[in-house]
Amino acid sequence: MSFDLIVKGGLLPDGQQADIAIKAGRIAAIAPAIDAPAAEIIDAHGKLVSPPFVDAHFHMDSTLSYGRPRVNASGTLLEGIALWGELKLIQTRDEIVARALDYCRQAVGQGVLAIRSHVDVTDPTFHNVEALLEVRDRVKGILDLQLVAFPQDGWLRAPGGEAQVIRALDAGVDIVGGIPHFERTMADGAASVRAACRLAAERGLMVDLHCDESDDPHSRHIETLAAETVVFGLQGRVAGSHLSSMHSMDNYYVAKLLPLIAEAQVAAIPNPLINITLQGRMDTYPKRRGMTRVPELLAAGVTVAFGQDCVKDPWYPLGSGDMLDVAHMGLHVALMTAPDQMRTCFDMVTTTPARILGLDFGLHAGARGSLVVLDCTDAIEAIRLRPARLAVVSDGRVVARTVPKATDIAGFKGRP
Ligand code: FE2
Repeated sequence: MSFDLIVKGGLLPDGQQADIAIKAGRIAAIAPAIDAPAAEIIDAHGKLVSPPFVDAHFHMDSTLSYGRPRVNASGTLLEGIALWGELKLIQTRDEIVARALDYCRQAVGQGVLAIRSHVDVTDPTFHNVEALLEVRDRVKGILDLQLVAFPQDGWLRAPGGEAQVIRALDAGVDIVGGIPHFERTMADGAASVRAACRLAAERGLMVDLHCDESDDPHSRHIETLAAETVVFGLQGRVAGSHLSSMHSMDNYYVAKLLPLIAEAQVAAIPNPLINITLQGRMDTYPKRRGMTRVPELLAAGVTVAFGQDCVKDPWYPLGSGDMLDVAHMGLHVALMTAPDQMRTCFDMVTTTPARILGLDFGLHAGARGSLVVLDCTDAIEAIRLRPARLAVVSDGRVVARTVPKATDIAGFKGRP
């Protein structure tokens, strides 16, 4: 039997060495040694071979717009939303497409082969939706782009918010979004959660809400989301993004909440780079970290993935599209420094978000033939060094290669 591609001698995240053979876009075999002809062979001896990186939470309609029309002076979520409101009025559809494609190219080079992007549907021009639907088509075959109908200015608070969500879904957007903590009242927030779950149940869709992105310990929309998920039979199809208020909640209440989230099979998607910089802005000292309770959610059996959220936009001035940066920050903020916890952080930017997005990624026979060869030996070293992605393979095709940088230090007298 001959194959399209064999990746030889790579070290898998579990430490095993294996050859991986790919045929017709799928992993056909994984074994200690595969001696068969192949159209292409990648020598990965001594290098980590990983499932692709997956970003479960991003905003591709605002990415790479930093400074336009001005920067976020306060650094807060609310100024970011106001600034985005200004940008929406002046940016063109072509501009959104160009920036998004630029970002996709950068992300693929870092081994990211799937992104779930929220798209603001409350923009009256509808440019964001039209632009990202075009981008989804243009990157197809290399990068899986899932779109969430996100009413940035509110399901109820924005004029026609719900109608715009429905319009976006009718146009081909994949997932129902929402932002309950931004509605006018807690009651409106709860009503918006209910409406989102009802709409998803009617249409057989998934739900991913920006939920409790706040330092307010009384922002408890995750409780409503978990309850409505059960009411509408959506278990396993719902994600709560951010869940920042859990950081500030009373411990007794959280002890009740965690089993409710687990029971409803609601996934959690914290975004460490953004949570650590947007939250805690009104604190003096100590300043809260603003990231949800990741180890506690994991211990309760909740599926947790880290997302990137923003790169160079009204909310965040930095970011590179590298999910290893995200894992690195998440590990630090969550204090997950034990070896098994660090390996879990690697899973939280690879296999776990793939599961949330419903993607057939993974290093096993029958899975999609998508993987990344990294210039390091294991998952912990990958997070520590964030090394070059030597080869990125998407559905059996090599779509990116990177040559590692070499550094010469002249006159250095220490050990080589
Ligand atoms: Fe977000």
